[in-house]
Amino acid sequence: MKFLLDSGDPDEYREIAALATEKGRELWGATTNPSLIAKKLAGQKISKDEAFALQKKIVLEILEIVPGAVSAEVYADASTPAEAMIAQGRDIATWHDRIVVKLPTTLEGFIARTELRKENIVTNNTLVFSQQQIFAICLHEQIVTKQFALEGSKWPSFISPFVGRLDDIGLQGIDLVANGMKIKKLLTPELWMLEASARTAQHILEGEELGSELITAPGKVYKEFFQGATSIIDQKQLQTIPYWEPDEELLKIETVEGFIQALTSGILDIHHDLTEKGLIRFAEDWNSLIAS
Ligand code: E4P
Repeated sequence: MKFLLDSGDPDEYREIAALATEKGRELWGATTNPSLIAKKLAGQKISKDEAFALQKKIVLEILEIVPGAVSAEVYADASTPAEAMIAQGRDIATWHDRIVVKLPTTLEGFIARTELRKENIVTNNTLVFSQQQIFAICLHEQIVTKQFALEGSKWPSFISPFVGRLDDIGLQGIDLVANGMKIKKLLTPELWMLEASARTAQHILEGEELGSELITAPGKVYKEFFQGATSIIDQKQLQTIPYWEPDEELLKIETVEGFIQALTSGILDIHHDLTEKGLIRFAEDWNSLIAS
């Protein structure tokens, strides 16, 4: 399993990369999001263009520290149309050949994903909280690969289930990774699972055991992990998430048009309250930087 740091602070990347090396491991990549970038730029009142320029500067600095993929997220609130995400995603993808474009797992996010994957841009579906969303990402990847005869990109695209935020509402977040791995194996084993929103060293150990290809965690979690947490201790009183099996009708969808239709009609229900809440929080944090 490759380690990614979930941070918008280049200094923290230097610190955790050095710690990982000291422990014989590698800090391979990075995930950033609007809240993490806003945290780094806190206190400033700047224009939208300046905020995007500073986001790019931070991401480029992080790319100099880690050898692998760095995810940068498009700005999206509840009313952002796919076209705006496509334009931002195309721009972000030009920053560096190790950039991965993070997109929300929503209807508009999938419309944007179609265009960006068509151009072979590596994507990271973020704010993933349900198996239906994981199924939708896998099915979409299967369809676009075939429909647009995609050739291999630098890396497979990523799926980011938010384990910690599910724990916060009393569910066993790691079950989403376990069940998601089964869904991924069924449709698109080539995609990479990126266990996200990790809160403890135990989350790292569990993700490793489940075969998640990637994990992203904050610096304090890696510090705990590198201090020697080695065994999985089940001390959580959280509710199990049972496996959800896609029905035959969904498995028959073969075109992007059919896929979008399944989302709009609700046959494939990708709504999740935490996805909506997550978008609101990202947008609020980002907008706190913007001078009115
Ligand atoms: C993932 O890419 C996200 O940035 C992240 O893991 C969110 O974690 P949080 O729930 O701790 O904010």
